[in-house]
Amino acid sequence: MASLSIRNVRKVYPNGNEVLKGIDLEIEDGQFLILVGGSGCGKSTLLNMIAGLETVSEGEILIGDRVVNNVAPKERDIAMVFQSYALYPTMTVRENISFGLGIRKIPKAEQKEIVERVANILQITHLLDRKPALLSGGQRQRVAMGRAIARDPSLFLFDEPLSNLDAKLRVEMRAEIKRMHQRLGSTIVYVTHDQIEAMTLGDRIAVMKDGVVQQFGSPQEIYDQPSNLFVAGFIGSPSMNFLRGRLTTDGNGPAFELNHAGQKSLLRLPLNGNAETVGQWVNRDVVLGIRPEHITDALSARNGDADSAHGNYRPTEINCTVELTEPTGPDTLVVARFNDAPVTCRTHPRAGATPNQPLKLAFDLTKALLFDPVSEERIA
Ligand SMILES: Nc1ncnc2c1ncn2[C@@H]1O[C@H](COP(=O)(O)OP(=O)(O)OP(=O)(O)O)[C@@H](O)[C@H]1O
Ligand SMILES: [Mg+2]
Repeated sequence: MASLSIRNVRKVYPNGNEVLKGIDLEIEDGQFLILVGGSGCGKSTLLNMIAGLETVSEGEILIGDRVVNNVAPKERDIAMVFQSYALYPTMTVRENISFGLGIRKIPKAEQKEIVERVANILQITHLLDRKPALLSGGQRQRVAMGRAIARDPSLFLFDEPLSNLDAKLRVEMRAEIKRMHQRLGSTIVYVTHDQIEAMTLGDRIAVMKDGVVQQFGSPQEIYDQPSNLFVAGFIGSPSMNFLRGRLTTDGNGPAFELNHAGQKSLLRLPLNGNAETVGQWVNRDVVLGIRPEHITDALSARNGDADSAHGNYRPTEINCTVELTEPTGPDTLVVARFNDAPVTCRTHPRAGATPNQPLKLAFDLTKALLFDPVSEERIA
């Protein structure tokens, strides 16, 4: 296994298209790095550069302490798993898994041992003598992973490996990959556009947009302290609510003034130790961000169902109008109108949210974030 360093890496394709604009990422031996972002942001390009399938226009890529910019792919000691499984159709599962081992002239007896160990990890022992055509999508994906594991590389590279699978299988395989990582302690770079995969699998997440890393951190850091509006909106499902308004102040401290559709409402802001920063924004436009789980029905909040155990803070109750309800089972997502601005919240399934009816919502403003509407950076 090995560490990975990406230092000021740029990629300009021959047609002049600048796709990566100075990427800096560093992971330690055994860490699981996620590259996440929308379509076309440059995830696969970066992965292919680590693999050696694309040239590096500028900067350095190191696997362990070796600069690999000019090292051929097969000399990099990596294994790659793609969205399309790329299995050899005429070979059995056993032959597919041991293919790379044969090339490396590993003795037959040892190959057999490796295949059996890998098959055991992925629970595909009963499939070893089948051809890929007789396997389900999930089974093929396991074989493709088996082939990667059998090579025992310094670095695993995954490019959206689960995106061809149905929802249930995707969740199962996600757990399988996590188990594999825990068991083998492998260093992994994993590309996905699925923010749930990013949150659940990664030790470190790089959120990318337009060839730039917007934020690089642990899943919790990225979730709790997103550095800008893009990251805040991209990570988390349903997305964080954004309300546009002004920061004001009166004798009782700062408040967010929502000014929407000609109606004004004040949300008093607990300061969370941010008094000085917040002070600089008084009388200026801001965006207030609050996640759906920090707004619930007032009854649940009073009963302590809400995640609002913050000292003596009492959630702020607001009368809203329900627009849409989406029961998920454990809770019901509600889109409500607050001064006609849409807010998504998580309510108790028995809170009685009904379209076009009023509902009293409780906002836990200790969890609210403030953003600069111009630079889009987080203020507090
Ligand atoms: N060979 C190429 N020449 C020129 N531009 C390219 C080339 N390959 C990719 N691109 C462009 O580079 C950008 C990044 O592509 P890339 O495949 O890295 O995105 P991605 O983040 O993996 O997207 P997706 O989630 O859709 O797979 C895109 O705008 C794409 O059109
Ligand atoms: Mg891609």
